[in-house]
Amino acid sequence: MRLALFNESDIGPVVALFQRVFSDAEGEAEGQVIADFVKELISTTPRSAVIGFTAWEGDAVVGGIFFSRLIVPSGQRAFILSPVAVSTDVQGKGVGQALIRYGLDHLKSLGVELVFTYGDPGYYSKVGFEQITEAIVKAPWPLSQPIGWLAQSLDGSAVQAMIGPTRCVEALNDPGLW
Ligand SMILES: CC(C)(COP(=O)(O)OP(=O)(O)OC[C@H]1O[C@@H](n2cnc3c(N)ncnc32)[C@H](O)[C@@H]1OP(=O)(O)O)[C@@H](O)C(=O)NCCC(=O)NCCS
Repeated sequence: MRLALFNESDIGPVVALFQRVFSDAEGEAEGQVIADFVKELISTTPRSAVIGFTAWEGDAVVGGIFFSRLIVPSGQRAFILSPVAVSTDVQGKGVGQALIRYGLDHLKSLGVELVFTYGDPGYYSKVGFEQITEAIVKAPWPLSQPIGWLAQSLDGSAVQAMIGPTRCVEALNDPGLW
């Protein structure tokens, strides 16, 4: 497996990967929603506010993740991980964890201090995320599943409580996603 920075020339296969994986996992309608979301994220987010990573087996893309900027009241440099997909036929072999660790290392090297995600705590705790509450850091929109609000400091310290709103990029700025 080879891990790489997302390159815009790979947008076709990467969007197709997200569509396939989420269709398999959650049905065709969800596959389409996620494919449209990934396209919007890439096309509407300023270059400095979105970064993706891919996993490859030969010339086939088997994994993809994106991080986008989250503005937080502490002023720390923060990103949020969403979405994540690993090809159905290679799931459960460590590709997702390797890709997320690779992305986190890259963000750390760029000076990013905090990373958030919103998902299954059982999975994301394997790659350093901890459950937080909105009393620690508010989410951009009310959370339908507060147990999925997760974060980690890339310097290993605890996530500090902060007061005030957070702001995500436009593609994520939809209450239905939260
Ligand atoms: C969730 C997903 C990204 C995980 O990637 P992966 O490469 O299959 O996972 P890994 O092989 O790195 O990790 C496997 C471990 O995570 C666990 N795991 C996998 N998917 C999980 C899930 N949805 N919830 C909880 N644990 C999960 C496995 O039990 C396994 O645990 P173990 O190491 O203790 O045996 C992948 O299965 C996927 O794309 N699923 C469909 C789309 C999706 O749900 N994306 C995440 C939301 S954006």
